[in-house]
Amino acid sequence: MTGTPQPADAFVVRGGRPLVGTIRISGATKNCALKLMAAALLTEGTTVLGNAPPVADLRVMVDILEGLGARVRVSGDEIAVTVGVPDWQAPCDAGARIRASISVLGPLVARVGRAYVARPGGDSIGSRGVDMHLRGLEELGATVIGRGDHLEVRASGRLRGAGITLDFPSVGATENLIMAATLAEGRTVVDNAAREPEVQELCRMLVAMGARISGIGSATLAIDGVEALRPVRWTTPPDRIEAGTLAIAAALTGGDVTLSGVRGADLHLPLVKLRAIGAVVEEAVDGLRVKGGELRACDVVTLPYPGFPTDLQPQLMVLLSQAGGTSVCTENIYESRFAFVDQLRRFGADVRIEGHHAVIRGPARLAGTRVPALDVRAGAAAVLAGLVATGTTVVTDVHHVDRGYARFAERLVALGADVRRVPAAQVPRIDA
Ligand code: EPU
Repeated sequence: MTGTPQPADAFVVRGGRPLVGTIRISGATKNCALKLMAAALLTEGTTVLGNAPPVADLRVMVDILEGLGARVRVSGDEIAVTVGVPDWQAPCDAGARIRASISVLGPLVARVGRAYVARPGGDSIGSRGVDMHLRGLEELGATVIGRGDHLEVRASGRLRGAGITLDFPSVGATENLIMAATLAEGRTVVDNAAREPEVQELCRMLVAMGARISGIGSATLAIDGVEALRPVRWTTPPDRIEAGTLAIAAALTGGDVTLSGVRGADLHLPLVKLRAIGAVVEEAVDGLRVKGGELRACDVVTLPYPGFPTDLQPQLMVLLSQAGGTSVCTENIYESRFAFVDQLRRFGADVRIEGHHAVIRGPARLAGTRVPALDVRAGAAAVLAGLVATGTTVVTDVHHVDRGYARFAERLVALGADVRRVPAAQVPRIDA
């Protein structure tokens, strides 16, 4: 399969070209399909997911599911997961590499009464706790045995429905607890639940599998447990973060890009912000058209959905660096996501950090530089900076970008950008 991580590769970007054209948005593999794959553990039989392009994190989830005894077939953008009775010990080397690995915890405890998974990895963007996952499972009657590098959870008999109020609307904890509750005895109510479109999609798929869930899309979800679920065929929704990244790139380069297949409602606030910054955003047949305009400063605050997504924050900061005036960008989800600010400064942007606020003064003239991709979104943002920088930009360590974006460079090239993927040995020397 394609999408295998290639740590040594780099993107070489030559800036100055507006992005123009039409592009179909990919399915949301990293933040959605991987959870839908975990949900397959709740059933016996074959669950088929379409529209899930093979990003690098998919390979890791395949390893985890195969380690649990499932049979996984990946063919193009389709994934088929066949499950009998899953094993309870997930392979730890794989589990520690991605955040979504924790999504198998709830299904395993619900289905086989026991789970052993590595403390999940993922991007280095903050502490990324798992306390809400574990506390929620305890409220459903499970016992947490291991909380260190490995998490081990057991249940004696069937989980019992309970009222759970999350401290924070965590996406992963909400997803895990919903999945666990689908097979519990009685009613579970999750309050302060995450409302992200990916959480809603998981709920809709679970309902198609026979789960009884009400309140989908709200902060209070009620799940009435059932005895068993059945496998389904499901289509992964379009990736709102890929769509948002390309929309920002269109506005940034003064381009004209039609994003087809995108769900505009999932991007409501990012589009409001893009318009406020000066981009022209129009409805198009089956999607959205985004054109550049006179860019002006704007304040943005990241918050759980429907707030502005943290996963678009670094990309948006690149855009704000090109906007006239002073913008304030506030990050509320991850304490380390401003690590990208240092890189943006290396391009020549005028940004300073005050606590969890970044103050950006623009427009600044960006010049090509060499930076490593720090994480999936910071890596994409560095490429975006390269699209408007003078000269050549080299973004190394692009395996981080591969984790979440399918064929990122090729897709930008299809819109007219000058981006090449090169092995480490062929990276040109540039003054940085
Ligand atoms: N948190 C805790 N304890 C918990 C759970 C979460 O303290 O038990 C904290 C985290 O440390 C973090 C915050 O709560 O500071 C948000 O975490 P959340 O659980 O909502 O996020 P997640 O499920 O770990 C998913 C995406 C992230 C995305 C967030 C927020 C996946 C695989 N990852 O992570 O995606 O930022 O939701 O929308 O779905 C990305 O794509 O770049 C990315 C990081």
